[in-house]
Amino acid sequence: MPIIHYVEANGAEYEAEVSVGQSVMQGAVDNMIDGILGECGGVCSCATCHCYVDEDWFDKVGPPEGSERLMLEMVPAPEPTSRLSCQIKVTADLDGLVVRLPASQY
Ligand code: FES
Repeated sequence: MPIIHYVEANGAEYEAEVSVGQSVMQGAVDNMIDGILGECGGVCSCATCHCYVDEDWFDKVGPPEGSERLMLEMVPAPEPTSRLSCQIKVTADLDGLVVRLPASQY
């Protein structure tokens, strides 16, 4: 099962096994990682799952598109590698993915 690394804004690091096909958001919620809320359950309508994809991984993960890109205009402190983690589906290729979490989702 792929391992996803989550780095909270305070530097605390967690790793979680996340099944292929699950989202990076669901992996965080299932493992009680605080920095991702996922209030809408993953339907791209709350933006409380904002994360920063590590630069070394961004090309593999890819940029946001469509409604996700529009939602990211509303998050606090967006960065060039910002994504909504509910829209990143875990694949075998993403084993080892590193995402940083913002200081706040509001
Ligand atoms: Fe709501 Fe990602 S969980 S937009």
